[in-house]
Amino acid sequence: MVTTMKPCEHLSVCVLLVLCMAAGSVRSGNVLVWYTEGSHWINLKPVLEMLVDRGHKVTVLLPNTSLYMSTSEPSRYRYEPFNISLTMDSFDEHLQGFLHFAIYETTHMSYLQIFTKLIEQITINIELQLQYLDGLLKSPSVMAKLQEARYDVLLADPIYVGSELVAEMLDIPLVFTLRFTAAHIMERLCGQLPAPPSFVPGPLIKLTDRMSFTERLSNFLFYASQDLLATFFWKNVDEYYTEYRGKPTSLCEMMGRVDIWLIRTYWDFEFPRPFIPNFKFVGGIHCRPAKPLPQEIEEFVQSSGEDGIVVFTLGAMIKNVTMERANVIASALAQVLWRYCGEKPETLGANTRIYNWIPQNDLLGHPKTKAFITHGGTNGIYEAIYHGVPMLGIPMFADQPDNMVHMEAKGAARVLHFNTMRSLDLLDALQAIINEPSYKESVMRLSSIHHDRPLSPLHEAVFWIEFTMRNKGARHLRVQAHNLTWYQYHCLDVLLLLLAIVLLLVLLLVKSCGFCVRRCCRRTRNMEKKSKAE
Ligand SMILES: *[C@@H]1O[C@H](CO)[C@@H](O)[C@H](O)[C@H]1NC(C)=O
Ligand SMILES: *[C@@H]1O[C@H](CO)[C@@H](O)[C@H](O)[C@H]1NC(C)=O
Ligand SMILES: *[C@@H]1O[C@H](CO)[C@@H](O)[C@H](O)[C@H]1NC(C)=O
Ligand SMILES: *[C@@H]1O[C@H](CO)[C@@H](O)[C@H](O)[C@H]1NC(C)=O
Repeated sequence: MVTTMKPCEHLSVCVLLVLCMAAGSVRSGNVLVWYTEGSHWINLKPVLEMLVDRGHKVTVLLPNTSLYMSTSEPSRYRYEPFNISLTMDSFDEHLQGFLHFAIYETTHMSYLQIFTKLIEQITINIELQLQYLDGLLKSPSVMAKLQEARYDVLLADPIYVGSELVAEMLDIPLVFTLRFTAAHIMERLCGQLPAPPSFVPGPLIKLTDRMSFTERLSNFLFYASQDLLATFFWKNVDEYYTEYRGKPTSLCEMMGRVDIWLIRTYWDFEFPRPFIPNFKFVGGIHCRPAKPLPQEIEEFVQSSGEDGIVVFTLGAMIKNVTMERANVIASALAQVLWRYCGEKPETLGANTRIYNWIPQNDLLGHPKTKAFITHGGTNGIYEAIYHGVPMLGIPMFADQPDNMVHMEAKGAARVLHFNTMRSLDLLDALQAIINEPSYKESVMRLSSIHHDRPLSPLHEAVFWIEFTMRNKGARHLRVQAHNLTWYQYHCLDVLLLLLAIVLLLVLLLVKSCGFCVRRCCRRTRNMEKKSKAE
């Protein structure tokens, strides 16, 4: 049969063969995964699962003090445990203290109080991070195991520092996966991601890409102040790195060696912005088509008839809210599935069900779901975009208010303030997003943007991790900006030279004009003198 093939068919056979061979050489890489926590861990898991599916060996560094990561749950990756001196209680205490401050206390505090408290919290947090790093670096047995295992790549979420140091020690490429850092500080300062303050609003600042003069001013000052703060906060880390390596080293300089940055957002959520070739935007990694619901929940959903249901969750970190707030919420809701583990509010309606856990993705993908009341975490927002469900945001802390500003600006959400909203506000807003078609249309537009790309976000993330393994890094994508000083980067030295030349020319011009004028004057004076003498 082969002999009867036309040349072009031969060609297509060849191309197919080559492709298969290229895919084959990806097989069985050895991936090391940095420890992380909370939603960051949840976000990493689908990537690890797919890496295992594709035949790679995945090893996860696991501290013995971790709220979310644990060897007890069944998984197909290997854990590399290490011990840290911190107890679980002190870690949980720190976390709960921070959450309480972020959600309830800030409303009663002045800006100065918030600021000092925040500085205190971040300082503690960095100390914690260094304790984790200590547990790893100061354990000769664990470090020896890491050296022996010959990993091909280290995959890390920079929420915990230190991966860049370990990647360098093991001499392996490093891939970062993150949603963002405060004011894009690591991305901008260490990754060289450009962020002109005139049209790229800093995260957390609750601005859109259309800024008035005063908004641009605050965005500019926001970036500048965060840069100052970061150098202050990172001093301890810099000292730690310097001591460990025995030569002057900064965190940022070490982060400059990151091969690929996988950012967990996409243009359905972000405002368009400039980026450089080793930044890949893979928002929506965890989204999946909806699976059938458990029978009991399905029956409840079906009992809503034509009206449909509303899904409500305040996220994994918020276990309970004050009874007063819970009552405000409960009395406003009609047919609602609420994920909540606090005490049952007195005003809970017969049509509201409370669950400790809900299959959120499957519920959002259910045809009867009309709206999603969310705290504004990126994961929930992405599931809502994926399934095209309009959102009502009740943001609590961290990036949540800013996330909801994005969704509101794109017309897919309404936003309420948790501490001040009344039952009536909640009801009004809910009715608006269900009954006004613009919300559904906007979120459907975002949904179609989300789905319309050459590779799914999960496949794209895995592709770049495999790419990094195949090519032993991605140095060819590293911009030369890393090797420039700040004045070279902004061409200030060039401007200075040009300015000097212009000044020199102006000076020459002025001097020569002066000279001409003086000569002219002298001649006229001489002529006058001459005519007088005559
Ligand atoms: C961690 O500590 C436990 C005892 O608390 C010990 O059995 C184990 O070997 C330690 N693991 C490492 C990696 O040092
Ligand atoms: C982790 O291991 C260290 C050393 O073995 C121990 O002091 C610490 O209490 C352990 N932490 C937890 C949460 O078990
Ligand atoms: C949440 O529950 C814990 C214990 O179950 C309690 O100590 C805490 O005060 C509650 N928080 C709020 C805001 O009610
Ligand atoms: C840029 O700096 C890095 C280290 O910071 C160095 O390894 C590299 O050789 C430099 N590249 C150039 C072209 O100077």
